[in-house]
Amino acid sequence: MVRHLISILDVQDEMNEILDRGSLIKTRQKNGEIYEPLKNKSLGMIFEKPSTRTRVSFEVGMTQLGGHSLYLSPKDLQIGRGETIADTARVLSRFLDGIMYRAFSNKVMRELADNATIPVISGLDDVEHPCQILADLLTIKEHKGPFEGLRLAYVGDGNNVCNSLMLGAAIVGMDMVVSCPEGYEPDQALFMKAQEIAERNESSVVMERDPVKAVTEADVIYTDVWISMGQEGAEAEAKERAFRPYQVNEALVSHAKEDYVFMHCLPAHRGYEVTDGVVDSDNSIVLDEAENRLHAQKAVMERFMA
Ligand code: CP
Ligand code: NVA
Repeated sequence: MVRHLISILDVQDEMNEILDRGSLIKTRQKNGEIYEPLKNKSLGMIFEKPSTRTRVSFEVGMTQLGGHSLYLSPKDLQIGRGETIADTARVLSRFLDGIMYRAFSNKVMRELADNATIPVISGLDDVEHPCQILADLLTIKEHKGPFEGLRLAYVGDGNNVCNSLMLGAAIVGMDMVVSCPEGYEPDQALFMKAQEIAERNESSVVMERDPVKAVTEADVIYTDVWISMGQEGAEAEAKERAFRPYQVNEALVSHAKEDYVFMHCLPAHRGYEVTDGVVDSDNSIVLDEAENRLHAQKAVMERFMA
């Protein structure tokens, strides 16, 4: 049966294997080894929203694995003229070996997957960003591993990245504390699911309104934009006021462990959710994190498409 990666829960039983595989693929590539398990295979990449990292890492990843990728914009596809997502999925399944989809809506993402006979891999939607979190976990493992006993503090908007990160942390058994302003909490059902998984793995996922308490003694501090793609608009000013106390700045990070690492999925809105002083500091590992999109996703594409 065809498998899709839409939620990080879709790979919860294989998480360690994927991370180990990503690490090995990374080492081999750095050693100059050619590895082409996807020779003659094609990945269609549908982007409803802009992207730097996701687009480039999937495209380069496919090339390195011996395959080919196609950038497909909905405004150029017949979707833009009313062809249904279901028909698009059925037709693309006859040409391609996999679809990477960056969607506005998780519901539409699932509709595409339900009608595809090839794997659909999410490149972000309004609920989750699973490939980002695989790369993040690989990065944390490299810098701070093993996961057990680590404290990750997520400070900011309870968005798609936060949702997947809670689940990912719970799956690998890392403690996570989420600190958001009132009204901007992560998805309640996914929060409860993360707590349930964490309990099984003898770790914890908790909410802490006070950002100072949240980051105290943290090993990892993670933030993301206050306004995600598709949320721009009238509410922005009120949102900025609510989020101000949650800015990750030099004063806030002074409460973390001295050797804490700073993470951000990027793009960063400097001066908003994070200051230059933090994102450019020696504690920041945001570029390793971005690079690991490539290696983690190669492990995913090999697993789902070879
Ligand atoms: N982190 C991430 O997904 O970045 P892009 O929006 O540039 O793809
Ligand atoms: N939460 C952000 C992540 C961007 C990679 C967004 O959805 O815009």
